[in-house]
Amino acid sequence: MSHVKVFDTTLRDGEQSAGVNLNRLEKVEIAKQLERFGVDRMEAGFPASSPAEFESVQEIANTIKNCSVTGLARASKKDIDSAWEALKGGVEPRLHIFLATSPVHMTHKLKKTPDEVVATAVEAVTYAKEKFPHVQWSAEDACRTDLDFLVHIIEEVIKAGASVINLPDTVGYTTPKEYGYMFRYVKENVPNIHDVTLSAHCHNDLGMAVSNSLTAIENGAEQIEGTINGIGERAGNAALEEIAVALAIRSDRYPYTTRLNLREIKRTSDLVSKLTGMMVPGNKAVVGRNAFAHESGIHQDGVLKESTTYEIITPEMVGVDSNHLVLGKHSGRHAFNQKVETLGFDLNEERLKQAFVKFKDLTAKKKEVTDEDLFAILTDTQTENKDAKKYELQSFQVQYGSYNLPTATIALTLPDGERKEMANTGQGSVEAIYNTLDGLIHEQVHLQDYQLSSIGKGRDALAEVHVQLTVNGSPAAGRGSAQDVLEASARAFLNAVNRVIAKEQAYEETTKEAQL
Ligand code: KIV
Ligand code: ZN
Repeated sequence: MSHVKVFDTTLRDGEQSAGVNLNRLEKVEIAKQLERFGVDRMEAGFPASSPAEFESVQEIANTIKNCSVTGLARASKKDIDSAWEALKGGVEPRLHIFLATSPVHMTHKLKKTPDEVVATAVEAVTYAKEKFPHVQWSAEDACRTDLDFLVHIIEEVIKAGASVINLPDTVGYTTPKEYGYMFRYVKENVPNIHDVTLSAHCHNDLGMAVSNSLTAIENGAEQIEGTINGIGERAGNAALEEIAVALAIRSDRYPYTTRLNLREIKRTSDLVSKLTGMMVPGNKAVVGRNAFAHESGIHQDGVLKESTTYEIITPEMVGVDSNHLVLGKHSGRHAFNQKVETLGFDLNEERLKQAFVKFKDLTAKKKEVTDEDLFAILTDTQTENKDAKKYELQSFQVQYGSYNLPTATIALTLPDGERKEMANTGQGSVEAIYNTLDGLIHEQVHLQDYQLSSIGKGRDALAEVHVQLTVNGSPAAGRGSAQDVLEASARAFLNAVNRVIAKEQAYEETTKEAQL
């Protein structure tokens, strides 16, 4: 069996998905879960892109101990310096430099000749090697690059000190056969290729990202890149959980090992979906709600007689556990704390107390508090930015009837601490709430998308709302959960607005610091 390294880019390429904007605490929480999942390398972000991104990458690098934390950089000294400052505290700092090599990118985007591109790549890798022990170089749009030019530039960047060469299918254009051929060609024609690790990075525009990644492994890739739930630019990246399970289930065909703990798949997928607001489709391979549901009578009968008739993956293998113990109103602090630990959370004393209060509030309304409910409470408590100035919902009331115009009355505290109350109407209850909130806040808000789902099963299940807004012209995603759908709707709206305020506040603070 050969070993394949897993490079996760959920926090960088995944975070580039339209409408996703994670805050620092959310990114750290995902990073900790990726570490538990067992990825070898995680790309924490693009430090030069903004002060907030720099801080998140720095905190992740300083927090994660069992995995090499990487940052992305363009082939520029400024980007490389910024990445070094963010990553130098990590256990194994790593840099990922990319530069486009296809004719269309070199001519129209970079406006450079092929020779200039080679010189820029070599200069950047040489400079990065003075700081970083590990430098990965990516030939952006490798799949539309002339193969002999690819061979030439790879040879030069290896001489300059790159230790990983990544061949991304940036636009999701390639087929398994072509991608496999490219890896073989590079292996056979780059003279110093044996000094480095070859890496595959696939996008899913034609739905072939996972197949392409597996074919790359068969043809010499020793590292695969991807994201949890396959989130990412446009149609997304290769879904790491699908690659991991394919390698495990079809080890007869793919004799490769990874360090991944497959039982962490479900939790990782749930956390990423919850925090990014990117819902997992019911029929998604490995982690979809229906991935283990057998609906037709013939299938159910077969599975009952012998599970392998229709089930190639067991739910337990990927951490889907149906036998969990529920908590209720008689559960005390001890049972609660134990549950927090079993669910994989590590909250400080203050946050633990707050989560317990929320749990107790919920037991007053709901007979059984499930793992899903607790997961929602704990994730929200763990990722709440307490120091940020924000709008807070104090109370709200909605009047709705078949022949009345829905009316919402809402009281809020504003970021400066002032309390304000207002009422407004709408054609529906959610519209009435959003119209009222619009009148209470200072920001200009437009609703782009609204999604409602239930957390777990039953009539008394918690409601979770994800919204996409533009706030003062910037896109912002928000989420809110509550037992009532209307309260969850109000919370999701304010959550998105508060994220923009926190970003603006962080930006103002950095500008002030820079001026001092
Ligand atoms: O898809 C791509 O080409 C990338 C690079 C930055 C590696 O994400
Ligand atoms: Zn990519």
